[in-house]
Amino acid sequence: MRNRHSVLFSSVIAATLLASTQAYGESEHFGKTADGQDVEVYTLKNESGAIVKLITLGATLTEMHVPDKDGKSADVVLGFDDVAGYQSEDNQYFGVTVGRVANRIAKGKFSLNGKDYTLAVNNEPNHLHGGVKRSLDKVIWKAKEVKTKLGVGVRFTYTSPDGEEGYPGKLNVSVTYILSNNRNSVRISYTAKTDQPTPVNLTNHSYFNLAGAGSKTVLGHTLTIAADKYTPTDDTLIPTGKIESVEGTDLDFREPTRIGKRIKSLDDTAAIGYDHNYVLTRQDVKAGELAVAARLRDPKSGRILVVRTTEPGIQFYSGNFLKDQKGKGGKAYAHRSALCLETQHYPDSINHPNFPSVVLKPGETYKHVCVYSFTAK
Ligand code: BGC
Repeated sequence: MRNRHSVLFSSVIAATLLASTQAYGESEHFGKTADGQDVEVYTLKNESGAIVKLITLGATLTEMHVPDKDGKSADVVLGFDDVAGYQSEDNQYFGVTVGRVANRIAKGKFSLNGKDYTLAVNNEPNHLHGGVKRSLDKVIWKAKEVKTKLGVGVRFTYTSPDGEEGYPGKLNVSVTYILSNNRNSVRISYTAKTDQPTPVNLTNHSYFNLAGAGSKTVLGHTLTIAADKYTPTDDTLIPTGKIESVEGTDLDFREPTRIGKRIKSLDDTAAIGYDHNYVLTRQDVKAGELAVAARLRDPKSGRILVVRTTEPGIQFYSGNFLKDQKGKGGKAYAHRSALCLETQHYPDSINHPNFPSVVLKPGETYKHVCVYSFTAK
């Protein structure tokens, strides 16, 4: 039998080792919404130099500080310093949780189980990102700190009543962000349950600039997307229903390619740049498991972002509609100065029976995991 002291000693060592590698979280008051609701901010840190901030308004990722190749840290996501910024017209979904249905629904209309539904048209002539006043990015979520083997984080929950923003069914949604203890990686896990069939397609809308938020452009970043195909759209950015090869198009990112290399040829398109859904290859990866979707690198800072997901698609949006609005620290966010890599189902899936279904039924659980991992070299 081991003597009592050695058992005690080894457990003290184990506890010390755990404490030195363990990330931690804390919350503070961030501010009040225009109608007087409190917004809390949670801070997560780990031992590899990452700091993440999250707020209860929209279950939003507001800051993501990661080191460059020389160990110098920068915040690589767009956002605002206060609640007023997040509630202003300048907020183009910075870092928010988007839903109930991310991306576009043609003319805000769909039919489900023989019933027609009409949603707000907030992106003429279509419905975009779940609606206007009570879409998931605009409501206050409940928050709770969580600790897992992977790291610490925050679990946000929200109950969307039947009929909110025109969608059927009461929807219980959760979004959990975990910052890894020993890697600069944020794992975002979504779940949802409903009491009536309803479309669900959630995503995170972080805008990245790996040189630091507020840097002039992302056109010098190199991007790889693990997709042979994409969903072509009409001139209102609604999919035609076809699934086509990226081969020979300006959308081909199968090999690492500078974003600015071919973007000019998209200037005169409806998207004014990249704003496309890619059909992820997911070769040999089972449904429900994580597959690499994209890799982004800023050659100057050496920062690299790898995106992994369980979802079938990723929307690459090159920040074409950024309009020089002032964000954190008063920095202006210029046209194409940040980009989004939104893991999700395809746009307007509810009106395209040939696309993977976004309909969630009672008794089922919607599940989606997206991991954003940062390194530098
Ligand atoms: C869409 C863009 C839209 C932007 C709004 C993106 O997800 O693809 O078309 O303008 O969100 O911030």
